[in-house]
Amino acid sequence: MIIIESVAQMQQFARERRGQIALVPTMGYLHEGHASLMVEARKRAETVVLSIFVNPTQFGVNEDLDSYPRDLERDQRVALEAGVDVIFVPKAADMYPQGYQSWVNVEELTRHLCGASRPGHFRGVTTVVAKLFNIVAPKVALFGNKDFQQLAVIRRMVRDLNMDLEIVGMPIVREADGLAMSSRNARLDEGERQSALCLSRSLAAARAAFAGGETSVQALAGVALAVIEAEDAAQVDYLEFRDQDSLEALEEADERTLLALAVRVGSVRLIDNCLLGER
Ligand code: PAJ
Repeated sequence: MIIIESVAQMQQFARERRGQIALVPTMGYLHEGHASLMVEARKRAETVVLSIFVNPTQFGVNEDLDSYPRDLERDQRVALEAGVDVIFVPKAADMYPQGYQSWVNVEELTRHLCGASRPGHFRGVTTVVAKLFNIVAPKVALFGNKDFQQLAVIRRMVRDLNMDLEIVGMPIVREADGLAMSSRNARLDEGERQSALCLSRSLAAARAAFAGGETSVQALAGVALAVIEAEDAAQVDYLEFRDQDSLEALEEADERTLLALAVRVGSVRLIDNCLLGER
């Protein structure tokens, strides 16, 4: 396994391996959710490139860029174990040099959900992901359903801009008690870690109500919200039932309906989602 820091060197490597690379873009502090993407990447290409870059342009001014957890040594062990060939760890100054002024923007899909509560966030995500695709030239790139809207936005960008690669979405990996794995979980204290279970419980409660025959979004939202409101440390940012393709709001749910939520637990903002028909 090698580590590449320079963009130019990464591009040189990519030129030599063109058509053989699977890319897993991350911001590091790797967990089993990330590892599941690397393991799948290993099956899909001769060369697996993992990028680790805490992308400053996708963080808002009052967000957690500075406190975002980082541990490159530990990340190297996880990557090696998962069979990664190259870790690409660019520097912000190399990705966004002086005079930088080009952006990729997906318009409609980013107006909702996380796009509404984090203005500019998806512009940063699509820009950095487009740059990574240009630098690494992968034939396939893997993303998690944990960030459901991010995946939808990236799929849209790839279609709209004729990017020549396959996008693969992977299931959410959870802790044994249901909490979706996230690098940000490291910032929860013990009490908050318990409170954070309200996200997955809320999803489960809505799925159970739906399985019991309830299809009114208003009623289902009541069920899901009650679980989070019962938790003192938790504050809902959004809890929405959406069409999984357009992300538009719905009044009646079916099994393809997406339930997406963002909840603040203490100072940490967590997201989770499910499709109502999921078991
Ligand atoms: P990051 O939060 O590090 O996530 C990297 C990838 O891992 C994303 O595709 C995310 O959906 C996936 N992932 C995270 N937690 C997961 C889980 N519990 N189960 C399955 N997959 C999971 O998402 C980003 O970084 C950034 O926005 C990035 C795309 C790298 C652009 O900067």
